[in-house]
Amino acid sequence: MSALLTAKDLRSGYGSATDVLMGLDLEVGEGAAVGVVGANGSGKSTLLKTVAGLVPLRSGELTFGGVPLTRERADARLRRGIVLLPEGHRVMRTLSVEENLRLAAISRWPSGVKSRLDEVLPTVFDLFPVLHERRKQMAGLLSGGEQQMVSIGRALVSKPRLLLLDEPSLGLAPVVIDRIYGSLDTLRQTGLSLLVVEQSLNRLNALCDQLHILRLGEVTLSAKGGELSEDAIKNAYFGQSGTSPTVPAKEEE
Ligand SMILES: Nc1ncnc2c1ncn2[C@@H]1O[C@H](COP(=O)(O)OP(=O)(O)OP(=O)(O)O)[C@@H](O)[C@H]1O
Ligand SMILES: [Mg+2]
Repeated sequence: MSALLTAKDLRSGYGSATDVLMGLDLEVGEGAAVGVVGANGSGKSTLLKTVAGLVPLRSGELTFGGVPLTRERADARLRRGIVLLPEGHRVMRTLSVEENLRLAAISRWPSGVKSRLDEVLPTVFDLFPVLHERRKQMAGLLSGGEQQMVSIGRALVSKPRLLLLDEPSLGLAPVVIDRIYGSLDTLRQTGLSLLVVEQSLNRLNALCDQLHILRLGEVTLSAKGGELSEDAIKNAYFGQSGTSPTVPAKEEE
């Protein structure tokens, strides 16, 4: 699998404060799903914002499809297909579902809104039939899970090659998380690459080809999807050692 996103020795942070990312290495293959697990404050959102160009890179290398991103601003990265779904469900609460999707198309495709919407709306409604039923409803009145679906729909309008998802399970009921992760798996099967950050391993093990544990802005443990246990993560979080990082064959997630 060829690399789509390559991050080498990334350092980034806010204002004059010390680095948050402290030499992070990571790769997302073309069509791959990569998960990053870390506790509060470990730098998960900072990582995604740095890739999206919303937090400046202080040093290190970031390339996308072989092209260096270092000098590219967030809007240029978006046009290349790097699309961030921020933490929380970002929808325009007083607009309908359809208007939310239309607005995403207007801001991304100012001169080709209709054709882009004609292309993408069937995909979004196939993925989330409930959004078709609720397309005239004000987005602010939808459940948290449905708002997350709108938010994924808005991202799809941008024609992503790489989706950056910041805690897509946050605040949602397990059954809704299943639905959201099911849709991510479907998207991934269409060839979309995913970089997903979460506070727990729970859903990532099944979705992801590759997993990384982030602690204080550094990857402290990496493994293939399905090969990490919660114990290993605790060790990686708290810096203990001595336990095998892999799950016994029969252990459930
Ligand atoms: N806008 C900001 N200005 C200054 N410091 C920030 C800013 N955003 C985050 N930080 C700091 O960067 C560090 C990493 O924060 P970040 O939000 O990336 O962590 P996180 O892993 O996403 O945490 P959470 O699980 O709570 O979302 C923290 O110490 C935080 O205080
Ligand atoms: Mg965060």
